[in-house]
Amino acid sequence: MAFHVIAVDGPAGSGKSTTARLVAERLGFLYLDTGAMYRCITLKALRLGVAPSDGNALLRLAQESRIEFRVESGVQLTTLDGIDVSSEIRSPEVTLAVSEVSAHASVRAILVERQKEYSRSASLVAEGRDTTSVVFPDAFLKVYLCADVQERAKRRVHDLERLGKRTTLQEQIVDLTRRDRYDSSRSASPLTQTDDSVLIDTTGLTIAEQVDRVVDLYRQRRGA
Ligand code: DC
Repeated sequence: MAFHVIAVDGPAGSGKSTTARLVAERLGFLYLDTGAMYRCITLKALRLGVAPSDGNALLRLAQESRIEFRVESGVQLTTLDGIDVSSEIRSPEVTLAVSEVSAHASVRAILVERQKEYSRSASLVAEGRDTTSVVFPDAFLKVYLCADVQERAKRRVHDLERLGKRTTLQEQIVDLTRRDRYDSSRSASPLTQTDDSVLIDTTGLTIAEQVDRVVDLYRQRRGA
């Protein structure tokens, strides 16, 4: 049977992760969080004292790291070398360094190859910055999510609160603006909206509405 890929890209805080995860649940697809993979390499680098600018050392880390996704009691966990790091990879330290780590073309090449492998054995919803442009250019459905920066910062404050991390709206606006600029202007696979992606502005939409839109788009396309 043919496996289908739904690829979802967009800037940080646009609702990609939650939307992609819930769409995957609704359709019975795998959820591929590509950002979590870059975060794992960043976490390992910070723990080992490898600088985010050291491309060669990061490439070696990426080559020797085992990153896996596992569902436990309905919750998807990210494991690094067999250990659950789902919470650690969301720490402010990792968030601060991950854009620089993910800008190395050599690191991207390794992780992109692994991301493609997932699609050979299952239908999946992949989300990140380059899933519509580089990882899955032939995806069955491509979606680009956006939202204004105030709204995205508000969501980040809530997300971090749920993880027990205190932050302010202003801090998140500064961080998101910095990451948007970095992710969109880097030379290796910058964040872009491809011509064949469907644009969904999630400002003012509920999560349920975002999920419904993507599921409806998928069903329409499949039924056509
Ligand atoms: O979606 P996120 O915040 O977990 O992503 C973390 C970082 O990883 C983000 O700053 C950009 C980078 N990233 C990337 O370059 N390519 C992807 N496919 C996913 C994430």
